[in-house]
Parts: sequence; C-alpha cells; structure tokens
Amino acid sequence: MHRTGALLRPNKEKNSELLNMEKKDDLIMGGAETNRKDEHEMEASPIPLLSPYKMGDFNLSHRVVLAPMSRLRSYEFLPQPHSILYYSQRATAGGFLIGEATIISETAKGYPCTPGIYTKEQVEAWKPIVNEVHQKGGIFFCQLWHSGRASSNIFQPNGQAPISSTDKPIASKVHIDGSTPAEFPTPRRISTEEIPQIVQDFRVAARNALEAGFDGVEIHGANGYLIDQFLKDKVNDRTDEYGGCLENRCRFPLQVVKAVADEIGADRVGVRLSPFADYNDCSDSNPEALGLHMVEGLNEYGILYCHVIEPRMITQFQAGETKHSLLPMRKAFKGTFIVAGGYSRGTGNEVIANGGADLVAFGRTFLANPDLPRRFELNSELNQYDRSTFYSQDPVIGYTDYPFLDEARY
Ligand SMILES: Cc1cc2nc3c(=O)[nH]c(=O)nc-3n(C[C@H](O)[C@H](O)[C@H](O)COP(=O)(O)O)c2cc1C
Repeated sequence: MHRTGALLRPNKEKNSELLNMEKKDDLIMGGAETNRKDEHEMEASPIPLLSPYKMGDFNLSHRVVLAPMSRLRSYEFLPQPHSILYYSQRATAGGFLIGEATIISETAKGYPCTPGIYTKEQVEAWKPIVNEVHQKGGIFFCQLWHSGRASSNIFQPNGQAPISSTDKPIASKVHIDGSTPAEFPTPRRISTEEIPQIVQDFRVAARNALEAGFDGVEIHGANGYLIDQFLKDKVNDRTDEYGGCLENRCRFPLQVVKAVADEIGADRVGVRLSPFADYNDCSDSNPEALGLHMVEGLNEYGILYCHVIEPRMITQFQAGETKHSLLPMRKAFKGTFIVAGGYSRGTGNEVIANGGADLVAFGRTFLANPDLPRRFELNSELNQYDRSTFYSQDPVIGYTDYPFLDEARY
C-alpha cells in the first residue's frame, strides 16, 4: 500500500537506544520533522481525512478515529472518573472513538488497571464516561478483550495459569510495548468443552457494553491476545476442531463474532485483526490467507467494520519495510474498512484518497493531541507524545494534560 520504507530506517546517528526508538517513532508518525506546516501539504478543505462518511447507521463527520489504547488507569479493574475527561477531550461531534481494551471476564485480565465490563459496578462506572462522549456528539465503541496467555498467574482467579489455545508460553521476554521486561507463565490449554463459555463471556460483555451506553463493540482479535492465539498457526497447536486448518483456527473467533452480532446486532459490531503481526509471539505462516479467510467469514455475518493493523508495524510501535499489503483484505471486505499503524496526516489522507481505507485510526498521535481532527484541519504542529507516561497509571500526567491547540505554545 504505502512504500514508506525509506523514511523508516533507524537513525544511526543517535547513540542512545531509547532516543533511537523515539526518533524512529517520530519518523513513523510523521512527528516533529514531518508535521511542520508544509505548503506542499496544504490541500483544499475538506481534506480526505476530514470528509464525512456514513458507517452503517452512524453519520461520521470525519475519518480520524481514536485507536483503542490501554492506559492502565482503571484502578481495581474499574473505569475511573478521570477517564471522563480523557475520552471527552478526544470526542468531536460525529467523531468515532474506540475505547481501550476492556476485559470480558476474570480470566481475561492481562495487565494491571485495565477496565472491565463484566460486573454491574463496571457497567455503572462506564456510564458517565460514555455519556460525556455522547454529550459532545461522539460515537463510542467498547473494545472487548481477553488476554489469553499474555497474562500472569497474579491476575488470574486463585493464582491459576492463564488460559490459551495452547500450553506453550510466550517465549518473548518483553511486553508488547517493546520495552518492559516480562516473564510469561506456562498457560493452560482450554478444553473443547470450555470454549462455549468464553464465547458466552464475549456475548454478555457486549450486552453489558450496550447497557453502559456504548454505541457498539469492537472484538479484539489482534495483537497476540486470546482470539489471535487461536487464529495463528505458530501458537495454535490444537488437534480438536479449533486447531489445524484455517477453517478450524478461525472457528472460535467467528463463533465469538456470531454470538456478539446475534446479541447486539451486526450493525454495532467491529473486529480488530493483525494477521501480519507477531506481537506476543503470535505469528502465522500465511497471513494473507488468514486475513482473507477471516474477512470472508466476517462478511457472512454482515458486521459493521473490520479494523486492521498495517503489515509494516513490525512491533506495536515500530514500522519497517514490508512486501505485504492490506489491499486484498480491503477489497474482499464488504463493510467499513479501518486501517491503523504509523499513520500521519499525509499518509492518512493518501490512504483515504486512493481507496485503501474508509477510516484511519490514530494511536499515539491522538493520545498526545486531544484535538487531533482540528490540528489536521489547520495542518498545525503536533504535540509529541511521551512514551514514559503511556502506562504510568497517573490520573492526569500523560493522560489529560496534553495541551489543546489554543493552549499550546510554539
Ligand atoms: C499506549 C498504547 C496502548 C495501546 N493499547 C491498545 C489496546 O488496548 N488495544 C489495541 O487493539 N491496540 C492498542 N494499542 C495499539 C494502537 O491501537 C495502535 O494500533 C498502535 O499504537 C499503532 O498506531 P499508531 O502508529 O497510530 O500509534 C495501544 C497503543 C498505545 C500507544
């Protein structure tokens, strides 16, 4: 799709590895250097990213989507009042927001301070957050998540082993964020008979999300978590009807999609996939075939959207060169197609203009720029994100204190 490889080579002049990482991120993101007001980038308004789009019954006023981002600030696994400000800052009339990964059950936990959607208390705690986004005219989906083996016994009921499609642990010694050390335990391979209960947990969580006021849900089938652990042949070594051939590996994920769509209506359901990624040690020998098979399965259920991570994202935060493209998936999928991973204003406009996607999800740039659509409209400078506070659990710093354009000093 985009051949941005030339921009993405590591900057060898920096001697600090950390600086090197930040530098690469900036280049990927079209950060400080590439986002300066550039006459060549001045298009007639509205630019493609800011053109309206009808996603099913939702009338979006622009195509700049808030990507789902865990912020680890939901103490005791409960959404907190400080998230009201965080999400409402990023809401716009007709803007589409996808909430952070939200656990669907006790066994779904993988990190501290992630919100849940399986208890009455959690549902009630979400309500004022969702309500505030609605007050600003935003459309808000809840991302339903089960971490599977990307967890630790300390997060599991009675200290038991995390569950997965397999009993092989994640071999990687770092978390998905690429910097924090991790020691992953040996998971417990769930039996065939246990699978319907996990499907049911997703179904109930979807119902709860609507009860909390969300407009719909995104099923997290990406980034090496439970659903991805069933999809990918490097991990899924089952011999029952949920393992082996493509059809079998997609069975559990598609059962989840069907159950959730039956529960709340397919027109309120999106799915996130990352067939080309190997985050959390989760890769596939034929990601093109996997992506296409899933998209065709999703078509059967007529779901609202498919949201896919760009193949160039070799780690969650770092792009590289790739021969792969999302275009075959884009062409095959009948609903709204959302892309994510390393997009800037320029490449986002390009992918919309050339038909590669309907919507573009922005992660780190939106995290650091609460008024991102406005900044794109004005083609103004962007705040640079601070990676050290992504997951710092502080209720304000690195969360709701990124300045708006009016407050920014340049
Ligand atoms: C702090 C942080 C937390 C993230 N948490 C999630 C998550 O909860 N669910 C998910 O699907 N992706 C998550 N991601 C990945 C983003 O949605 C996105 O795919 C990634 O940041 C690449 O997009 P970007 O280059 O625009 O940042 C997270 C990313 C960041 C920076």
